[in-house]
Amino acid sequence: MNILTQTADGSNTLFNETIGEHYHSSHGALQESKHVFLEAGLKHSISQREEKEVNVLEVGFGTGLNFLLSFAHCEENNIQLNYTGIEAFPLSKEVIEKTGYEQYVMPEVWQKFLANYEVSLTQKQVLSSFCELEIAHITLANFKSLPQFDILYYDAFSVQHQPEMWTNEMIAHACSFLKVGGIFVSYAITGNLKRAVKSCGFTIEKLPGAAGKREMLRAIKS
Ligand SMILES: C[S@@+](CC[C@H](N)C(=O)[O-])C[C@H]1O[C@@H](n2cnc3c(N)ncnc32)[C@H](O)[C@@H]1O
Repeated sequence: MNILTQTADGSNTLFNETIGEHYHSSHGALQESKHVFLEAGLKHSISQREEKEVNVLEVGFGTGLNFLLSFAHCEENNIQLNYTGIEAFPLSKEVIEKTGYEQYVMPEVWQKFLANYEVSLTQKQVLSSFCELEIAHITLANFKSLPQFDILYYDAFSVQHQPEMWTNEMIAHACSFLKVGGIFVSYAITGNLKRAVKSCGFTIEKLPGAAGKREMLRAIKS
């Protein structure tokens, strides 16, 4: 059902045969994750605030690549990372082990992730003195939370392949978990998405996209 394939920057991704789409950009899984979620999302959010603590919510946890890069960055910079992933169809640990993503983070980050992955699907795990991970094994539609997150990584399959993840209602539901001043980031930037986010009271920014995409979306909850 999921086939491991290499992307243009040499990093791997999965091709989901049921959905008919890759988990990451075929122009480069690593470069997309770094550009959209790490640089435009996490680092930007941290630079805007005094606190050395950040609450991240990811829609579509998948292989955990966005998490791994975020964990490595926070670990290196002494920032407390409280990370919640939402994932309706969790991958097996065996599939994650084969991604080769250990090349992109420190060995202890990779080992802590693998050792805690399966348990974090059932309860919050402390991975280090700077990182907590919880993966809600649930659909986004059924996920509930207070507005407690500083950043939302919106990394669902594309609107062409999974339109139900991009309706106004679903975007509003996801955005409701952000604090005021919280940041929404996504590789996607359709007219509909911009309108949906604006109608939730966000100010939108169009940023240069990751390789293969002209633009990406970042929006701030006002
Ligand atoms: C584009 S992939 C995410 C890639 C991921 N961020 C990574 O780095 O590997 C989309 C993810 O959304 C998950 N998904 C699909 N439908 C979902 C739903 N209704 N609610 C939550 N997650 C869903 C898929 O199983 C898949 O892992």
